[in-house]
Amino acid sequence: MATQVDKVLSWLAQNEGAGVDRLLEWLRIASISTDAKYAGDCKRAAEWAAGHMRQSGLEVEVLPTGPAEKPGHPVVLGHAPGSAAYRGPHVLFYGHYDVQPVDPVELWDSPPFEPVIREAAAGGVPGRRVVGRGAVDDKGQVMTFLEALRGYKEVTGAVAGGVKMTVLLEGEEESGSVHLDDFIRANKGRLQACDVCLISDTGMLGRGKPAITYGVRGLAYTQITLHGPDQDLHSGLWGGRVYNPILALTHILAQMHDGENRVTIPGFYDGVPGVDARERRAWEGLNMSAAESLAGIGLPAGADWGEKGYSAVEREWARPTAEINGIWGGYTGAGAKTVIPSHASAKVSFRLVGDQQPGRVAGLFFEWLKARTPAGFRWELTDLHGGYPATLPIDSVHMEAAGRALKRASGVDAAMIKSGGSIPVAGTLKRELGMSTIFMGFGLDDDRVHSPNEKFEIECFRLGCRSHALFIDELLALQQVP
Ligand code: BES
Ligand code: MN
Ligand code: MN
Repeated sequence: MATQVDKVLSWLAQNEGAGVDRLLEWLRIASISTDAKYAGDCKRAAEWAAGHMRQSGLEVEVLPTGPAEKPGHPVVLGHAPGSAAYRGPHVLFYGHYDVQPVDPVELWDSPPFEPVIREAAAGGVPGRRVVGRGAVDDKGQVMTFLEALRGYKEVTGAVAGGVKMTVLLEGEEESGSVHLDDFIRANKGRLQACDVCLISDTGMLGRGKPAITYGVRGLAYTQITLHGPDQDLHSGLWGGRVYNPILALTHILAQMHDGENRVTIPGFYDGVPGVDARERRAWEGLNMSAAESLAGIGLPAGADWGEKGYSAVEREWARPTAEINGIWGGYTGAGAKTVIPSHASAKVSFRLVGDQQPGRVAGLFFEWLKARTPAGFRWELTDLHGGYPATLPIDSVHMEAAGRALKRASGVDAAMIKSGGSIPVAGTLKRELGMSTIFMGFGLDDDRVHSPNEKFEIECFRLGCRSHALFIDELLALQQVP
């Protein structure tokens, strides 16, 4: 006799087309959180998700964030009370409905908010995919969870299959989750009832290689401007007489790394643990090829670059970095203009690990810059946002349940991986509520996250739906609150 979860899995298979259509509808809403122009779309995307969740029987609220005079994007908060008999953990599912900006828009093969289902390009990897902004980050992945909830409701009539669950969908993840910490603190009473957080916003080890991510890096993101003369100058009359702010800024930023590509800012490495020997061996066993990854971005093996003494995977998962994300100043229009600009700017960010703290790292960087101020110049320094790193225990009952769900969904053992990316909520939940997170994600390395032609393969969507359905089944089998 087919068990309950078998019936849910068949429902998901039969309704996959409808589920993908629902995803396409959500993707048509341009919920770009960083640009105030799209505030209305962010609200619509939140309401859309709330509607979907209500159809699965959840009690849902769309709650404002931030101060009333300058509101942030809303949070969608859903609740499934769990059946009277349920004794397993109360899971908090977190996802984000906001997306990154679409530029450069001319590089998209189809408009970013007119999502399409496309076959793979000739000669490329096979597999139908959904192409559009947010396809994999994160609407598509959130949908795999929401469709599993829908399947349980349709098949069993029980909300979330009888599991006790809270769903929190954020609309500011891509712009630094600036109002989330306050929201979590303000709603501590409700959220601290949850035992563990589940997030589907990461990647797999590869096609057909499901993975659980047990750590993400933190982030400190800054914007800096170096002001020099009080006006733009003719570079013929002034060249050779004043320090060009662009030149000064690039000279200074060029000192951020030493000859071994280590960050030179004093105190930067405080709280950075060494790479654990057991982890190092486990990662070697994953047989990841740095050369293959580089080939995927059009570079030869010789282009491998980074902190000396660490492999590529160690540098991505276990070491902090400093990056320049943007730099501008002076004349950038068509043709030539001989100018020494009055100022120059850059966006500089740091990926963090271990006990590094975003606010402290931004502060160290600013002190380091001030110590290098050219005579008569001044800095304008802004700490834009940050997120703490998070490393999670891999031997919890929840993590093991997720591992079994992935194995049942795919037929293969889930790899335990980390990610170099950042998902600020995990650190906040840890610090504010002592809550751990399980990252069970379904993206692929070549999904073009944040880039033109972002995609989510149907195969990955299917695995996500199945894995979430089976995770619920595993929770139902865990009849003890840990
Ligand atoms: N989902 C990503 C992070 C991610 C991607 C983790 C792939 C693991 C694998 C998330 O939406 C993201 O883009 N985070 C930002 C941080 C945020 C504070 C802007 C990041 O990592 O840059
Ligand atoms: Mn994301
Ligand atoms: Mn993202």
